[in-house]
Amino acid sequence: MRAVVAHASDRLSWDEVPDVRPGAGEVLLRVRAAGLNRADLLQAAGHYPPPPGASEILGMEASGVIAEIGDSVAGWTVGQEVCALLAGGGYAEYVAVPAPQLMPIPDGVDVVTAAGLPEVACTVWSNIVMTAGLQPGQTVLFHGGGSGIGTHGIQVARALGAKVAVTAGSEDKLNAARELGAEITINYREDDFVERIREETGGADVILDIIGAKYLDRNVDALAPDGRIVVIGMQGGTTAELNLGKLLVKRAGVIATALRGRPVDGPAGKGVIVAEVVKNVWPMIADGRVRPVVGAVLPIEEATEAHRLLSSGEVTGKVLLRVE
Ligand SMILES: NC(=O)c1ccc[n+]([C@@H]2O[C@H](COP(=O)([O-])OP(=O)(O)OC[C@H]3O[C@@H](n4cnc5c(N)ncnc54)[C@H](OP(=O)(O)O)[C@@H]3O)[C@@H](O)[C@H]2O)c1
Repeated sequence: MRAVVAHASDRLSWDEVPDVRPGAGEVLLRVRAAGLNRADLLQAAGHYPPPPGASEILGMEASGVIAEIGDSVAGWTVGQEVCALLAGGGYAEYVAVPAPQLMPIPDGVDVVTAAGLPEVACTVWSNIVMTAGLQPGQTVLFHGGGSGIGTHGIQVARALGAKVAVTAGSEDKLNAARELGAEITINYREDDFVERIREETGGADVILDIIGAKYLDRNVDALAPDGRIVVIGMQGGTTAELNLGKLLVKRAGVIATALRGRPVDGPAGKGVIVAEVVKNVWPMIADGRVRPVVGAVLPIEEATEAHRLLSSGEVTGKVLLRVE
């Protein structure tokens, strides 16, 4: 089979690699499209090795057709179109997927577009709802409102009846965020997000943070009493000082999570998250409250250019790779 191979100097090539086979509890997916994530950029640059046992091939989400079913798998059929959350291996003609990480394609979504849903949907739902407990009427702040995560998160939070605030670094991305339902839009290059959030809401109940160290103290300042900061990205570094006094007064919490390294099974596993997403988010997509936001689709042979695009910040929403 062919797959994207990462070389030094950020070059990616579409080359022959050894075939993959589905193990027990897995299905073999013939890939039609793969979604890009920031983690793929880090892995390609040699900074983010896949978890033990995962494929060395890039790609944390994909869509396609079930080509083969391994032992001990029930409920899926050969030929069925699906999408899947992956620990790796999506940038390829075929990928082996643990059955609990398979998802049907939401009604009304084409198979290529569906490749960009599993990672954002599972990350957003597991963090803002399952971890932070966002409630209707509360305020959620998404840093990076024009990102894959942000463009999906805005819509899910609105569908839940929450008030949505976002930060972004350009007017294009802030406009896109407004169109998707964000009510408070903050250009982080011009405005202080702490001041704006405090002025307009008194504080955010939930902050989904992708910056990490650089924003930790200011996120605590922007938080409402009993609020939760969930850190899922560390684009602004990993190590910062935390003023416990400020947290204590607000009865607030700081949590950091990663989806990729979770086990497949068990109460904190990917299977539980995938099932909750299919139950709660897929109907939001089917009835139009949440739409996939795709900024670019490139042939998989152009993976190098796709990585450059995501890294440049030029794209609003997801970047996808199409496999012919
Ligand atoms: N822990 C997990 O399980 C998990 C899962 C998925 C994703 N993530 C993380 O979530 C983040 C978004 O992922 P993605 O794939 O959606 O990436 P993406 O589309 O490339 O988005 C990255 C975003 O970061 C924003 N950004 C950069 N500096 C910023 C700042 N100072 N303040 C606010 N926003 C800033 C950029 O906004 P501008 O272009 O407007 O500057 C851009 O929209 C990444 O950090 C990724 O690693 C974590």
